[in-house]
Formats: sequence, structure tokens, C-alpha cells
Amino acid sequence: MIIAPSILSADFGNLEKSIEPVKDAKWLHVDVMDGHFVPNITIGPVVVKGLRGITEQVLDTHLMITDPLKYAKAYVDAGSDRITFHFEAVSDAIKTAEEIKKLGVKVGVSIKPKTDVKVLLKVLEYVDQVLVMSVEPGFGGQDFMPEAVEKIKELVTLRKVIDNNYLIEVDGGINKETAALCKEAGVDVLVAGSYIFKDKNPAARMNDLR
Ligand code: DX5
Ligand code: ZN
Repeated sequence: MIIAPSILSADFGNLEKSIEPVKDAKWLHVDVMDGHFVPNITIGPVVVKGLRGITEQVLDTHLMITDPLKYAKAYVDAGSDRITFHFEAVSDAIKTAEEIKKLGVKVGVSIKPKTDVKVLLKVLEYVDQVLVMSVEPGFGGQDFMPEAVEKIKELVTLRKVIDNNYLIEVDGGINKETAALCKEAGVDVLVAGSYIFKDKNPAARMNDLR
């Protein structure tokens, strides 16, 4: 299982020091918000470029933005390795996935808590990962919505019939207890922000999740 610390809850006054305790995590999760698709504004390509300069970790970039195709290249150029867009933000998810893949990165599609897994049926064979939101996107530190567990199970079942081995990722409200529920359901990637970074000992929190 991959644990992807979400830097949204890290200290932006000193990102390098803040991510040091999680340097053995294979991935870092980067939450991009545009103040339009979600009511918050966060990380632009310049920050990704800065991160790229201080770590070789996989930068798993979660675009919570209205026009992912307009900005995906800027994030790839800045150093993002994986780009996830929101199904709700686009009119043609297959085309969006294909265009992002052409940029030379892995692509993911994400659904908000109220969006049904079934809407993804046609796009599943085009993506490298599916990100299940277990909180309303926009902010760290919210409570896990248990409906996400069923969605993970559905995606595990669908993966058996769809000829594509996408990763299943869950994002929002992950702590020791909710991580266990998701693992049992078959998740591959756990994103955790506040649980890791709002503790005095982020490395210990990483180990707890492991
Ligand atoms: C929320 C973001 C999450 C967030 C998770 O919109 O997509 O990645 O950082 O934070 P926690 O783990 O605190 O719920
Ligand atoms: Zn995220």
C-alpha cells in the first residue's frame, strides 16, 4: 500500500523542513485548488517547481480545478508525475484523460462524495488511478465519509472485469481507524494530510498508518 502525505497540511513557511519527516514516503500528494471548482485557493505550478527541487518523491497532483486541461501542462512542466482531474469538472473525461497522458505523466480521475462510481464506467480503462474523495474537496481536516468504503469496493469489483489495472486511492479524513476500513475494502493509495502533519511527530504518524 502506498501512503501519500498531503502537503496541504504541511508548513508552507518551511516546506523543505516540513516534508523531511516523510521523506521515505514514495509519493507526496499535492492539492491544487482554484477558488472556483472548490472554495479555496492553494498550490500553483511555482510551488510544484520548488518541491521538485527539494525531493525526488512522486508528486501526485490532485487538480481540484474547473479547467484541468488548461493547466495540466504547467504542472507537468513544473515536475508533477501524476495528474488527477475531477470527473465533475470536465465534459469529456476520456478526452481529458488522453490529453493528460500525452503530456507524459500518469493520469487519474476523481469523484466527489456525491458522485456515483457508475459515472466512471467508460473512463476506467483510460486511467492509471481513481481517486475517491472521502470528504467534500476544498479543505484538510474534515471527517471521513464512510460511503467512500463502498465506492472502493465497487472499484475493486469493476477492476476484475475491466481490462485495466488502475490504482484505487482514497483522500480525506484518513487516520488509523479509517485507513484500516479502506485497506480492508481494497484501497491501494491512502492520502493523509492533517493526521500526519498536524502531529508533533509526522514520521510516527506515517508508521502508524503503515
Ligand atoms: C481535500 C484534499 C485532501 C486533503 C486531505 O480537498 O483533497 O487531499 O489534504 O486532508 P485530510 O487528510 O486532513 O483530510
Ligand atoms: Zn487531495
